[in-house]
Amino acid sequence: MSTNGRPRVLSMHTLLDPGPALLAEEAEVIEFPSNAPLTEDAIRRAAEGCAGILSQVMDPIGEKVLSTPGLKCVSNVAVGFDNIDVAAATRHGVFATNTPGVLDDTTADFAFALLMATARRVVQGDNFVRGGHFKGWAIDMMLGVDVHHATLGLVGIGRIGRSVARRARGFNMRVLYSDTNPLLPDVEREMGVQRVELPVLLAEADFVSVHVPLTDKTHHLIGANELAMMKPTAVLINTSRGPVVDEAALVDALQQRKIFAAGLDVYEREPEVHPGLLGAHNVVLAPHIASASVRTRSEMCAVAARNMVTALRGGRPANLLNPEVHH
Ligand code: GLV
Repeated sequence: MSTNGRPRVLSMHTLLDPGPALLAEEAEVIEFPSNAPLTEDAIRRAAEGCAGILSQVMDPIGEKVLSTPGLKCVSNVAVGFDNIDVAAATRHGVFATNTPGVLDDTTADFAFALLMATARRVVQGDNFVRGGHFKGWAIDMMLGVDVHHATLGLVGIGRIGRSVARRARGFNMRVLYSDTNPLLPDVEREMGVQRVELPVLLAEADFVSVHVPLTDKTHHLIGANELAMMKPTAVLINTSRGPVVDEAALVDALQQRKIFAAGLDVYEREPEVHPGLLGAHNVVLAPHIASASVRTRSEMCAVAARNMVTALRGGRPANLLNPEVHH
């Protein structure tokens, strides 16, 4: 509680409009004055006396933070919530929330941007021209792989995976997916997607795009064995979470030309990037920006702020990850 009786909320990093104004309706907002990666100890110190924390993807929110006396809600400004120990939040009676839904299309757009950029060597071409190497048209210059009529393999068919599948239709792609939670046959038919086991998907897809959350079960889901099952002409796209792919195995696959290319928005130890990726020409690297459109990032901030305000008012936030917590 602040001196004027309003609950205090710690807002980690920058929060876009209308997030701050929505929070200010209910709380006194304390802004953490840094966008740098933080330790859990630093977050715990800053959270002292706070009823809420607005966290972002690189903030580790575990036992230490969640045991802060008086803490009611941790609202993650992201759909992914692997940075939060939700079981510990539940044990401490703290609501944990995320921002699903508002970023599906924007993230799917970006997965497609990486797919197109890797397949058609857009970034390599840009570097080539800027480097003054473009001396004339050549029939064999920067040959890529076709996107249209290719087979797309979606590892995970949640909201974002389905948005990617819809885009693929416009490119006349054949779409396979693997998921432990299959779609209903009618939905599969309507979307024009076919469920297969992961090894089949890896063997048949020209593009493998990963859309699963990071959990104990999906950690290194794509490792050396899985990469070895892919075609040498295939492309791997990851806009989910870095540790879903074994980065060292991916570097090896790229260096040994076991696959054609990779497009990555996420890394195993963000913001660190494996030096083998930085040195590879057949990979397009983005700094975790798949949801970063002006509109979507601002909607994520609004959703996160609303989740927090509802929790502080004693209600049940719309995007509650641990409904078993009752205040
Ligand atoms: C971003 O990575 C998110 O999970 O929203």
